[in-house]
Amino acid sequence: MGIAMKETVLKKFEEVFGDSEGVKVFFAPGRVNLIGEHTDYNGGHVFPCALTIGTYMAVKKRDDRKLRFYSMNFDHLGVIESSIEGLKPEKEADWTNYPKGVMWAFEKRGMKMDCGLDIVLNGNIPNGSGLSSSASLEVVTGFMLRELFGFDVTNVELAQIGQYSENNFNGMNCGIMDQFASAMGKKDNAIFLDTADLSYEYAPINLAGAKIVVTNSKVKHSLVNSEYNTRRSECETALAELQAVTDIKGLGDLTEEEFEAHKSAIKDETRVKRAKHAVYENRRTIRAVEALKNNDLETFGKLMNASHVSLRDDYAVSCSEIDVLVDAAWKVEGVIGSRITGGGFGGCTVSIVKDEAIEAFKEQVGKAYQEQVGKTPEFYVVEIGNGPCEL
Ligand code: GLA
Repeated sequence: MGIAMKETVLKKFEEVFGDSEGVKVFFAPGRVNLIGEHTDYNGGHVFPCALTIGTYMAVKKRDDRKLRFYSMNFDHLGVIESSIEGLKPEKEADWTNYPKGVMWAFEKRGMKMDCGLDIVLNGNIPNGSGLSSSASLEVVTGFMLRELFGFDVTNVELAQIGQYSENNFNGMNCGIMDQFASAMGKKDNAIFLDTADLSYEYAPINLAGAKIVVTNSKVKHSLVNSEYNTRRSECETALAELQAVTDIKGLGDLTEEEFEAHKSAIKDETRVKRAKHAVYENRRTIRAVEALKNNDLETFGKLMNASHVSLRDDYAVSCSEIDVLVDAAWKVEGVIGSRITGGGFGGCTVSIVKDEAIEAFKEQVGKAYQEQVGKTPEFYVVEIGNGPCEL
């Protein structure tokens, strides 16, 4: 797939910018999170893995200071132009605010490009699916800048720069999970990351007799960014209230018992629920990874299911379409666990399904979704891929 994507993006480069000589092609993956949702900005643990789909970037240096961008995913927008000078977010710049944000973030760290670029993008992550197309775009941009201009940054820093640009250039207060999973991806492994200090370990995923299946609801509600930022600030307020009675740096520092003992310090019922999710989800993630190490897939699945219930009821980031997918999945024999994945309000679910049940899963979940939502979902059997590379 990578080679075909490379050829397609090179061909487009030649078509749009006249010549593909000396053009380099880079790739960074999207991600799916297995468990640990909305914990990454609360100093908790996450457990994502990189996918083999992502963003391809064909790029060539220019003699001047111009930036010219073209995306095969947004053909109708044509070539979008700007300059490497005075980088700032602009509505008309549309999707190019993501790569420009990364360039800006490098500049903030004292790494400034000394010439402009021609860039053509081609992504194979379905738009709005919650599989981190924006993080993969940020990471491929950072990786490209490092390779082309010799900037001295590690892959972990590529993730941090991506997150910084998204927070401060694009106004989405995301945590570090998506960029970290993309920048640090490792074939056939998930990443057990402690967002409190960025320590991490790889966990091989060989689910004997089962596969990870992503189901795309094909809905994305527009409130996602504003609701996301609201959840984040609710957690920050709850943390400040808890800090008045206990010495913690993040909600991820608390066990369930400690939370129950101190929760009366939080002066609002909604905030109690939000903080409860963050605390319990973090502990579920730790337990889930432990269960996986012990080959106890059943416990892993139960924790995924509990994660969904908590995201639906306490964190309120699910939606009716996603609940239809998850409820239907839970009813299929051979489904080990199923939950919403990513930021929420649409996007995808992630399920662990026994090999022999995959066909029935697609059929039954597809049928329920068609009947209750009137749409056909898409299914992907996940292949876990590596981080960014030059092709
Ligand atoms: C989005 C954000 C991540 C993370 C998830 C929820 O994907 O970009 O940082 O917070 O939502 O787990």
